[in-house]
Parts: sequence; C-alpha cells; structure tokens
Amino acid sequence: MTGTHRDFLAIPDYTRDELLSLFKLAEDMRNGPYTDKPLAGKSLAMIFMKSSTRTRVSFEVGMWQLGGHALFLSPRDVQLGRGEPVADTARVLSRYVDGIMIRTFAHSEVEELARYATVPVINGLTDLLHPCQVLADLLTIRQHFGSLEGRKVAWIGDGNNMANSWINAAYRLGFSLTLACPEGYDPDAEILRRAQGEADVKIVRDPAEAAEGADVVNTDVWASMGQEEEQAVREKAFTGYIVDESLMSRAQRDAIFLHCLPAHRGEEVSAEVIDGPQSVVWDEAENRLHIQKAIMANMMGGVEL
Ligand code: CP
Ligand code: NVA
Repeated sequence: MTGTHRDFLAIPDYTRDELLSLFKLAEDMRNGPYTDKPLAGKSLAMIFMKSSTRTRVSFEVGMWQLGGHALFLSPRDVQLGRGEPVADTARVLSRYVDGIMIRTFAHSEVEELARYATVPVINGLTDLLHPCQVLADLLTIRQHFGSLEGRKVAWIGDGNNMANSWINAAYRLGFSLTLACPEGYDPDAEILRRAQGEADVKIVRDPAEAAEGADVVNTDVWASMGQEEEQAVREKAFTGYIVDESLMSRAQRDAIFLHCLPAHRGEEVSAEVIDGPQSVVWDEAENRLHIQKAIMANMMGGVEL
C-alpha cells in the first residue's frame, strides 16, 4: 500500500485526454455488462465530515460492484473528529486501505491528507471544489448531446464549490461557460483567472444573460453545507436567481437542466423546472456511480486510461 500513486483532488489533476478516456470507461461501465473486478480485495476508507446521500451511497456501491469494500467513517466514529491530526490519520489509514475518499470543509485539509497518505485520495467535496460531481455532470451532457463539443453551459447562482469545479472543467476541456452570480458571491478569483486564459469563461450579474442560448442550465443551493446561518442574508442576495420556466425559455429549446442535489424547490429552482421535461437530474445523480467507478478503477485498480 505504498509506492507511486495519484490523487483526484481537482479536475485538472487529469489531462484532457485522460478525462475523455475516463468518460469512455464510465460509459462502458454504465452501458454494461461490465463484469471486471479491478478492486477485488481492496478497501476504500470514506471520511465524511459533512452529510451526504449520493456521494456516500455511490462510492460504497461502486466499490462493491468492482469487487471491493468501503468503510463509512463519520466524525462521531473516528478520532479525527476528536482532534487527531489529519497527517496522522492519513499515515494510519494508508496502512489498512487502498484508497481514501474525504468530504470536509477546508480544501487544505484534503491537500494535507493527500500529502501524508501513501494511497490515492479522492475529493468527495470541500468548501472549494466538488470535482466528482462536475465529472458526473459532464457525463450527463455527453449522454444527452453525444459530446461536449461546442456546448454552451450556464451557471446560475452561488460562486461555490460547484461553480469553481465547473470553471476547472472549462479550463481543462475548453467549452463555453457563463456564470451569473450576485455581487459578493463570485467564484474563486485564482481558479477564474487561470481558466480565463484558456477558455471562454465569463461572469455576469444577470441570470437571463447567462441563460441566453445555453444548452445546459445549471444551479445549486444558495447556502451550502456549513453556511446554514447565512440562509436569510443569502435569500435576499439571491433574489431573482431562481431557475424557472421563464429563465429556461431563454435557453435553447432542447436545453437540459442540471442540479447536483439536494435541491430546494421554490428557492434556486422552481418545481416546474426540476420536475419538468428538461430536467435530467436523476440521470445526473446516477452518473455519480459510473464516473466514480471509473476513477477508482483507474486510481486504485490499475485500469489504464
Ligand atoms: N450532490 C451530492 O454530492 O450529494 P450528497 O451531498 O448527497 O452526497
Ligand atoms: N454546494 C453544495 C453542494 C452539495 C452537494 C454544498 O457544498 O453544500
């Protein structure tokens, strides 16, 4: 459980060609039958310092389907929750398991975990990034449009972990991305600056401007995990940033609607849109399983891209 390994902390950790191969592998797994067991006898430790439905279940089921096994570790159960250093946790877990998935607050903690672990580390969401989700979203776009080529993506709402990962995806894959964020809720400046040198990434204030002619309209909650006490202030700041039928009518007629979930109907999205014919959010949730299986097969099971 030592030796060279790679981590997946952010989308640019994979090259463009590797990402395209990863999508292909995930699609082979989805379209099946895929009976290989590249993770036979292997274990994944899953550290969750925040809640989860999709991430927890898709990683655990994905490990099992590829022949391995996953351990769910919450702060109530592990010494990390009582202050044991991240570095020590990384060193110890590396002696037992073949990979570590972590969902936590500070992105720097995941980087520290990866620095001290001798097995692959996968980012299952931080305050800064949510790379597995955006890869699942890209897989969903390929499922519905055949490819990402020439697609125009709109992001409506908070410049949060999802928005930052979308910018990273545009940086690596080169599609057009317009984000409509209220003033004071822009994405990470450094991530934005890097992408703007490489891809057509714009920040605007008006949701209608971002949605105009878009193939994909995408949003997320106004208050992310850890920001619950800001809910009232954010509700005010995000007034008018709802994805409803009127906003969707600005987009292409065959546009799809994405949301990483969980969603709040009547806040960032209307029930008519998320439960309507343009919504592909259930395919999107399912694609978490397929893309993460591809990531784990590659990083922990030696499956080449
Ligand atoms: N989209 C997502 O990551 O969902 P969970 O918080 O349920 O894992
Ligand atoms: N931005 C949201 C995503 C949840 C999957 C959050 O961090 O809570």
